Amino acid sequence: MILVTGGAGFIGANFVLDWLAQSDEPVLNLDKLTYAGNRENLASLEGDARHLFVHGDIGDSALVADLLARHQPRAVINFAAESHVDRSIHGPEAFIQTNVVGTLRLLEAVRAYWGGLNADAQSAFRFLHVSTDEVYGSLAPSDPAFTEDHVFEPNSPYSASKAASDHLVRAWHHTYGLPVLTTNCSNNYGPYHFPEKLIPLMIVNALAGKPLPIYGDGQQVRDWLYVKDHCSAIRRVLEAGRVGETYNVGGWNEKPNLDIVHTVCGLLDELRPRADGQSYSGQITYVKDRPGHDRRYAIDARKLERELGWKPAETFDTGIRKTVEWYLANPEWVAHVQSGAYRDWVQTQYTGAAA
Ligand code: NAD
Ligand code: TYD
Repeated sequence: MILVTGGAGFIGANFVLDWLAQSDEPVLNLDKLTYAGNRENLASLEGDARHLFVHGDIGDSALVADLLARHQPRAVINFAAESHVDRSIHGPEAFIQTNVVGTLRLLEAVRAYWGGLNADAQSAFRFLHVSTDEVYGSLAPSDPAFTEDHVFEPNSPYSASKAASDHLVRAWHHTYGLPVLTTNCSNNYGPYHFPEKLIPLMIVNALAGKPLPIYGDGQQVRDWLYVKDHCSAIRRVLEAGRVGETYNVGGWNEKPNLDIVHTVCGLLDELRPRADGQSYSGQITYVKDRPGHDRRYAIDARKLERELGWKPAETFDTGIRKTVEWYLANPEWVAHVQSGAYRDWVQTQYTGAAA
């Protein structure tokens, strides 16, 4: 069994679904179900005995200790986090609580559990921490992409809290010998992405006839990775990564935000044309920039390719088309997220009440 935290969120849910599509090894899924946690993402696993969902907080030491003792996982994969930069600007406290204090408590509970395992189980055990390229700060246009040796220069409350968690994970290896792995990934996109982030927000706003808000000049660069490629990288690092190492994960897809939004509009123009025949790009609206907005992220993922043979399977063109198609094929998921009904999804499944 593996313990996945934050497995009802965007990347965690994709990871759990992909894991169980390829393996019968059960998943214990611990998630606090914040606004970003959506059990509807895991609807296809209802009744599947290989998936055990627990509603709880990684910072609840007693709960985590009990889960570890009862289920004896061979690995913990920590996705649980507050993840949205804009929210971190308006309310940083929750980011410190979950990303820093929560990770600390999780590490401590895992360390106690790991310390009690027999020697074979101890050496086979892994704690994999899922982190972000944002810990490295912002690049100038001509700078080389981030390698694993890049200095940490986090600029937002979100990235500062993730950087702190990465440092804790590193220290728990160096000080206590906990067998940890860390992955630092670039911006993900794909199915089940909460529509507060750029790509899903643009898709759902476009379809709803709403403005498509571009922060500042729209020339900020992000390095996009299809979420299922991130999941395959995590599986590979878990399987073969060198203990104590960090691995950057990226898709070699650096693009300015404005290009991304035009690509999304172009796909929607093709797949779901507007009734008036105009392009969705007419809905683009320039708005005030995000404070402290990082200009450019770019990941050098060569270590992962060289050491573990991982490469992304999707290009940006194939991944973004799949993503737009997924949102068009899942209007109910979008409607439930927009109405808030996703928060009651489990209840409505069992009572039959209208969502
Ligand atoms: P998300 O916000 O969609 O999901 C986070 C999940 O964690 C939610 O299900 C939420 O309910 C859960 N959670 C929050 N606080 C918790 C707590 N205290 N205890 C237990 N569960 C809790 O985030 P995501 O985009 O899926 O990101 C997952 C991880 O990957 C995060 O650690 C994030 O920093 C990292 N990451 C994300 C991206 C990206 O582009 N989305 C890129 C690189 C790294
Ligand atoms: P986001 O999806 O929030 O991810 P991150 O801030 O972690 O990179 O934003 C991606 C980029 O898109 C970022 O440069 C901010 C920009 N952006 C907009 O221009 N408009 C929006 O409405 C959003 C949500 C983001």
